[in-house]
Amino acid sequence: MCGIIGFVGHEDAKKYLIDGLQTLEYRGYDSSGISVYTEQGIQTMKTVGKVSDLKKLVAENPEITGNCGIGHTRWATHGGVTATNAHPHTAGRITLIHNGIIENYQELQDELAAKGRVPISQTDSEIAALLFDSLYDNDPEEAILAGVAKIKGSYGFLILFEDQPDVIYAIRQGSPLVAANTPKGSIIASDMVALVSYTKQFFVLNENHLAKITPDEIIVKNAQGHVYGPTIQHITWDIGAAQKGGYDYFMMKEIKEQPTALHNTIAPRIVNDLPDFSADHVPDDIFKDVKNIIITACGTAMHAGLIGRNMVERLARIPVTVEIASEFRYQNPLVDENTLLISISQSGETADTLAAVKLAKERGAKTLSVVNVKGSSIARESDHVLYTHAGPEIAVASTKAYSVQLSVMYLIAMKLTLLNQTKTEEEIQALVREFVKVPELVEEALDFDNLAESVANSLVKAEDIFFVGRGLDYALSCEGSLKLKEISYIHSEAYAAGELKHGTISLITDNVPVIALATQPDVFAKVISNVEEVRSRGARVILLTNEDSSVKPGLCDHQILLPKIHPLFTPFVSVIFLQYIAYYVSVKKGLNVDQPRNLAKSVTVE
Ligand code: M6R
Repeated sequence: MCGIIGFVGHEDAKKYLIDGLQTLEYRGYDSSGISVYTEQGIQTMKTVGKVSDLKKLVAENPEITGNCGIGHTRWATHGGVTATNAHPHTAGRITLIHNGIIENYQELQDELAAKGRVPISQTDSEIAALLFDSLYDNDPEEAILAGVAKIKGSYGFLILFEDQPDVIYAIRQGSPLVAANTPKGSIIASDMVALVSYTKQFFVLNENHLAKITPDEIIVKNAQGHVYGPTIQHITWDIGAAQKGGYDYFMMKEIKEQPTALHNTIAPRIVNDLPDFSADHVPDDIFKDVKNIIITACGTAMHAGLIGRNMVERLARIPVTVEIASEFRYQNPLVDENTLLISISQSGETADTLAAVKLAKERGAKTLSVVNVKGSSIARESDHVLYTHAGPEIAVASTKAYSVQLSVMYLIAMKLTLLNQTKTEEEIQALVREFVKVPELVEEALDFDNLAESVANSLVKAEDIFFVGRGLDYALSCEGSLKLKEISYIHSEAYAAGELKHGTISLITDNVPVIALATQPDVFAKVISNVEEVRSRGARVILLTNEDSSVKPGLCDHQILLPKIHPLFTPFVSVIFLQYIAYYVSVKKGLNVDQPRNLAKSVTVE
């Protein structure tokens, strides 16, 4: 959470900072600010609101100019949304921006107060500025290292020292930082999207490594103080992938990108009609002798895990549990060397998921991650990675990342099936031949656009909505419900269709629409009975079924017929309709689809 950027070079830094903050705004959007080294020293401008508000403020103050600066777009943790709490924070000779949470800020604040150093904001970040200033005795590196040694929690800091013009110092723990030196200067940010306009070569600053950033070079020292040559990475997408490309919102663009994202994720991993991870350097050995699998993730990624569990258990007959990452580490999990822990994350930076991976590793588990962002913390922490190839996902509501996560979970399930010999090679090949049709069928499902828009009209005024289904459809309902509440602010719940009658059906009235998924032949009749139950309590029903499923007249208000697809793969096409519904309800309510209130894209705090 929070977008941070620093630039030091041969041109006005403000343009780099504002442009960077605009691309990073999805990481936090309640307030923003920049500090620039000017001839008069470091000057700061900050404001509540969007980066566009900051841009206006900057335009009103053209005299504040310089070639070195730092910028921040905030997702509030400690302290409300005010200009004072916005970053950068200055204390004495230090000006800094921070992404993360300082867990022992109260203790540090008390220590500093005893020395007469009192913050003016309510943030934990200002405490860090006060701390570094109190430790600064003309050696910036010494002050930073002494300061972070006292800090508990997560941080990505960019720090300016008043008497060190045109130098930015950076250090991180937990929170991501990527950097590059270009002919125009050096640039560092919390996310590659802020760098890609200038370069495709970058490096990830390792945890606890200290970077000294000047116009012509970036010197990195490791935790022992030795100069360290970071590994340069290359990204394959360009800035167009992180722009709206004519769409009103990123979310719609990303919905439409799903066929390509799926193709790019699936195709390279099919050899002789079988799943093959050799190009990913993921050996089959890690799947052998696995007695149990734990899938851990948060939010949408966790929902991809629910479908993954269904597929692995159904096809490979290996027990799987799905653990919400924020719960996993606090319940003394049963993990040992026979466990395969699969983590799923779009950003690869979700703090809870990262902590779960670290804990599982400590306990001897094999760790495999399914991650979208190259070189991200979860990817680096895991023994093995299967990258999804969705390209950058900017809308806070995850869409294409979910689909590609699903596709990798299907590939893993089929690989385990092959190794576990719970189906013959020929049976798996037959399944794979159906699976490779998924991107094409998703393309077909994109035609639901207009139908979903008209169905959305009937949902805009609802205050509560239920999503129901069984098996795979229940797992998918969880995602449909999250998507809707996240961006439309309508309360909704996903329920196992058969469980309604054990209490929840008392909530069903003619004011509570039900979106029912009945795509699985083995439980179709059961779900239809459950739909009858809600229908007879007055619910308006939107029913998703296979193309050839007929239902009795009057059972639902809208029946959505999905493209013909193997029943195991229906989540890929059903989710398109559910994503559209969430999108159009949000648009019709006049909400900011891409930046829903209180949220941020990448949750790097626990
Ligand atoms: O980057 P990650 O996939 O680890 O993020 C996990 C969740 O925070 C994320 O999926 C979140 O639930 C989405 N905003 C939902 O649309």
